[in-house]
Amino acid sequence: MRLYRTLFAPTLLAACLATSCADPNQNSTNEVPTAQAATDASPSIKAAYKDAFYVGAALNGRQASGNDAKAIKLLQEQFNTISPENLLKWEAVHPKQGVYNFEAVDKYVALGEQNDMFIVGHTLVWHNQTPKWVFEDAQGKPVSKEELLKRMEDHIKTVAGRYKGRIDSWDVVNEALNDDGTLRQSPWLKIIGEEFLVKAFEYAHQADPEMELYYNDYNLWKPAKRDGAVRLVRNLQEKGIKVAGIGMQGHYGLHAPSLEDIEASIKAFSDLGVKVAFTEVDIDVLPNPSNRQGADIDATFEFDEKYNLYTDGLPDSVQQQLTQRYTDLFNLFQKHSDKIDRVTFWGVTDNDSWLNNWPIQGRTSYPMLFDRQYQPKPAYNAVLEAAAKAK
Ligand code: G3I
Repeated sequence: MRLYRTLFAPTLLAACLATSCADPNQNSTNEVPTAQAATDASPSIKAAYKDAFYVGAALNGRQASGNDAKAIKLLQEQFNTISPENLLKWEAVHPKQGVYNFEAVDKYVALGEQNDMFIVGHTLVWHNQTPKWVFEDAQGKPVSKEELLKRMEDHIKTVAGRYKGRIDSWDVVNEALNDDGTLRQSPWLKIIGEEFLVKAFEYAHQADPEMELYYNDYNLWKPAKRDGAVRLVRNLQEKGIKVAGIGMQGHYGLHAPSLEDIEASIKAFSDLGVKVAFTEVDIDVLPNPSNRQGADIDATFEFDEKYNLYTDGLPDSVQQQLTQRYTDLFNLFQKHSDKIDRVTFWGVTDNDSWLNNWPIQGRTSYPMLFDRQYQPKPAYNAVLEAAAKAK
């Protein structure tokens, strides 16, 4: 997408969306489904927001390898950017020292390219879904700072380097902040110190100087965490690192956080001279056993029916609240489309969402725009209407 977007995208993409358009990168012998499948003039979110920002979805392994045909069809019709839900996390792509699994990622990247999508990499440096061996020596003791930096460099240069010129944007560091804005005491921080942030971005830049480098986190609407992210990115900028953007994950509830808090973060991040992306949008309609917000995946609970209220379908009253919440959010995104580069849903349909298994396993959750039968929900129409209203 990178060259295509830079040189031709504004005009060609608009033309493609208005009519049907063959993919210039398309290889007719390749098995990956292409955008040609989705050619009718039915409404699409990507067309509705084409002058505002990219709109996308995170793909699970089945989808990324083309094995969920209905989801792929929706993807081609509705979205122009993709993120890998789990495929590019350290434990998936680099489970053992010296062992890399690229097969699934190769398919993910090919799918994105053949559908002219903006392709996101998620994520290079995180405390979760990173195998223990990364931080330990052969005796199970913490590795030295030098060794961990070397492992980080190898990982980033091998993974990001493999997709040089093909993955457009990387979440270089994910969730390095606590909610109070201080740095999380992750093994990265404990062993390397704050320098791990600088090094991660430097190695990523060296792996592919053209790609966009993002810092990504949840709960960035919280004032203290917002300030922490501003400090973090400003520190990087002062060291000469070009941070392209800040990813606000966007794991929200029906009524919280407030639009005002989200808006304040959009403005604060944009004031740093970086783009803002909403990278993992979903709205949890179910009651929660804790006061949790965001996506602290360590906070899990035993299954209890009282937190799984809608196993037979979403009541109209809740459906309406979900629809209104999406309307409000997309009105806000539209208002700041000069600052926002991308809005990505964390899944395609309700069935795909991680919220079916978090914070309690086995729930029936309804966070997305498409239901379990791949059908658009009222919230989908609301998102389309929000775009039309802004014109
Ligand atoms: O692949 C194994 C499978 O082999 C095993 O049988 C099964 C048993 O539970 O687990 C499977 O792994 C699960 C994995 O998702 C793939 O489905 C893990 O248990 C589960 O913990 C993991 O959850 C992912 C979570 O990140 C873990 O960190 C979610 O799918 C994924 O949506 C979520 O994504 C994160 C973003 O990367 C960062 N921001 C927060 C967001 C939500 O937590």
